[in-house]
Amino acid sequence: MADKKAQLIIEGAAPVELPILTGTVGPDVIDVRGLGASGHFTFDPGFMATASCESKITYIDGDKGVLLHRGYPIEQLAEQSDYLETCYLLLNGELPNAEQKAQFVSTVKNHTMVHEQLKSFFNGFRRDAHPMAVMCGVVGALSAFYHDSLDINNPQHREISAVRLVAKMPTLAAMVYKYSMGQPMMYPRNDLSYAENFLHMMFNTPCEIKPISPVLAKAMDRIFILHADHEQNASTSTVRLAGSSGANPFACIAAGIAALWGPAHGGANEAVLTMLDEIGDVSNIDKFIAKAKDKNDPFKLMGFGHRVYKNRDPRATVMKQTCDEVLNELGIKNDPQLELAMRLEEIALTDPYFVERSLYPNVDFYSGIILKAIGIPTSMFTVIFALARTVGWISHWKEMLSSPYKIGRPRQLYTGYEQRDIVELKDRK
Ligand code: SDX
Repeated sequence: MADKKAQLIIEGAAPVELPILTGTVGPDVIDVRGLGASGHFTFDPGFMATASCESKITYIDGDKGVLLHRGYPIEQLAEQSDYLETCYLLLNGELPNAEQKAQFVSTVKNHTMVHEQLKSFFNGFRRDAHPMAVMCGVVGALSAFYHDSLDINNPQHREISAVRLVAKMPTLAAMVYKYSMGQPMMYPRNDLSYAENFLHMMFNTPCEIKPISPVLAKAMDRIFILHADHEQNASTSTVRLAGSSGANPFACIAAGIAALWGPAHGGANEAVLTMLDEIGDVSNIDKFIAKAKDKNDPFKLMGFGHRVYKNRDPRATVMKQTCDEVLNELGIKNDPQLELAMRLEEIALTDPYFVERSLYPNVDFYSGIILKAIGIPTSMFTVIFALARTVGWISHWKEMLSSPYKIGRPRQLYTGYEQRDIVELKDRK
């Protein structure tokens, strides 16, 4: 992979030759691992131009708006696959055949329950705790229940941990919601599909078991697919960094959940609905567009912009189609928030500020409108994102641990004091 070279000319020092590595597709990378010998580090806050690892899982072309999972376009997976097939693909590298799929679905079904004692963890939280706070806690707590499979160097332990996490996240997410509602938690059912089971645990009660709408289950499954993985984003990089220290998979996923919570990342879907409520009416859009452009105003148009996509986020396109299908199926005409969101997109994408900066709607812009139509409260939106992204996180964790790796330990540009001596308290001014 390294037949090209880069030469770094450093004033007063010998030129440094660095290998250039070429991937399957996408930009070449300059391998700077040998740079330390020159007495220099690279400096790249926010990793704007830094590849942290080699990976075969997901490829994004931000200029063309392309997203591939193990080579398959997200549009095809959303249309022709389902979430558990996509999970199998991300975890194993290939789509399953019929027998492999049946086996995987059955294995996941048999791990959807959580230890009965895990319920007591919830009682420590206030009922009005943010659901993501509870998710961080209870997912991290899973490591207290699986002492039999925490050897990260054992491939079988890595495999069973991955399946347990994919299987249990819907159960835990629904438990978090039921706890916030003061309703009894529902057990998973093995006769339902993954998405049907989640909606069952969310909205059914012991008093009444209603059938799950196939349209809503399909929409939920597609939302899971669209959120499954996205290369080295902030939360996935957090999971990789935590995993590089040898931390157990449950702790790593809890770290990923914490990183996802931020409004600049997975918390944006909740922030979009809050923003639309704040805008309230089409007549206020110009005021908020001005706020978003004002450098002295911290307000950003939530659901717009992306570090990688400088074209449309392909997931947003599929999400918008799904939004139309769900609202149509539910007979929701002229949903005010959807109307407002569409008008906001129209206006923003004609404004030079947004066009020059390639700020298009991202995956979070329309997802909240669908989730709300399905009946999921805004505070649960990022929990849904974490549920779906768990397979991506654990796939990257598995990939990293499956070949030689080093603990992640970035260096820094130090601009603090040089060495100085302590002055005794009595002599300090
Ligand atoms: C996700 O990385 C992933 O893959 C993430 C994700 C995934 O699947 O894991 O895709 C999920 O996190 C999607 C992004 C959700 N976040 C939001 O919708 C929050 C709003 N968006 C912004 O905070 C921002 O666009 C980011 C954080 C998404 C990207 O930030 P960058 O890449 O650091 O870009 P930047 O902040 O340097 O912006 C470049 C310019 C700046 O203006 P100038 O300094 O050039 O004058 O664009 C401006 C920014 O001020 N800008 C915005 C804006 N986003 C960027 N201005 C107004 N509103 C916005 N939303």
